[in-house]
Amino acid sequence: MASASPPSLLPASAPNAEEDEESHREVYEQLRQLVSTYPTVPSGFDTAPYHRHPDGWYTSLPAMVSVMVAQRHFTARDTDIIIATFPKCGTTWLKALLFATVHRDGGGVEDDAALAQLRARNPHELVPFLEIQVYVRDRVPDLSSLPAPRLLATHIPRPSLPASIAASGCKVVYICRDPKDCLVSLWHFHDAQRPEPRGDVGEEFRLFCDGVSPVGSYWDHVLAYWRWHVERPGQVLFMTYEELSADTLGQLRRLAEFVGRPFTGEERAARVDEAIVKACSFESLAGAEVNRSGTVELMEEPMRNAEFFRRGVVGGWPNYLSLEMATRIDEITESKFKGSGLVLPTMMTM
Ligand code: A3P
Repeated sequence: MASASPPSLLPASAPNAEEDEESHREVYEQLRQLVSTYPTVPSGFDTAPYHRHPDGWYTSLPAMVSVMVAQRHFTARDTDIIIATFPKCGTTWLKALLFATVHRDGGGVEDDAALAQLRARNPHELVPFLEIQVYVRDRVPDLSSLPAPRLLATHIPRPSLPASIAASGCKVVYICRDPKDCLVSLWHFHDAQRPEPRGDVGEEFRLFCDGVSPVGSYWDHVLAYWRWHVERPGQVLFMTYEELSADTLGQLRRLAEFVGRPFTGEERAARVDEAIVKACSFESLAGAEVNRSGTVELMEEPMRNAEFFRRGVVGGWPNYLSLEMATRIDEITESKFKGSGLVLPTMMTM
């Protein structure tokens, strides 16, 4: 028999007391005014520019305000598990794998409550983003009563993370991906949201190389989390989309060990881990009715769940990037990562 459904980590939708609502609106309003004074650059995405955070990265005004609210109001606990990513590097997949691993109840493919949740809800509902889903709509929700472990996610660059995340010692799982595939995925994602898709990757490529992406430079983002992982391997796990694709079961076991929920010999014999891999595969997730027709609210806008499942392959970039573009990105990658010890799987053949 499946146990009760794992708890949702989305903040309760019930309104706060009126005075709380008023003071929360004030928190956001003050930050909106502050961020509006920051320098801007064209985002290339729509008419709204990106603003430059004092830590040196770019994003839209509402997203930056939400990051700052999270910085001030999120109090991490040592039992939290936080997924951190640069957008389009495999966040949705990792959320599904983490959720299924942490909340598994041994019910098997048919009866496991966590796998049932994954069939019924999009991974972004099950593991919400701090700055895109939790601290939005002028809300400062009280997360203190949520049961441990709280599974949360973020795209916030390392230097701007709420300080309590590092201080609490909670687990952080980072995943990155070949920047060429990341760029192509990002461009498709942005283009799909435009009223009139442009079908030309050129502008997105230029902005990406200049570090003007939804949370700033891809390379700075990856490097900062990599350095943190090198410094504190017990706190920060570093994964790549390519390794996850090549050996999903091995990487899932690594993840499970890291978060303190290793698969027992009995579970392995019962193929519990394999069932999770299968349930979280591109085909399973993309084929679920909720992901074909449902939506999830991100930055106060409904987003079609299907947008998070495009192709799910490694090395699809040659269909969209010229050799010149690819060479440019590889050169930046090589020069930025030089001396850091970080070698992405796709760089080994460079
Ligand atoms: P592509 O656009 O290259 O297909 P994010 O979740 O960080 O937004 O990343 C989205 C990318 O991950 C997309 O890549 C998407 O197709 C891919 N993806 C989503 N779910 C996946 C899964 N279960 N397995 C493999 N790739 C997945």
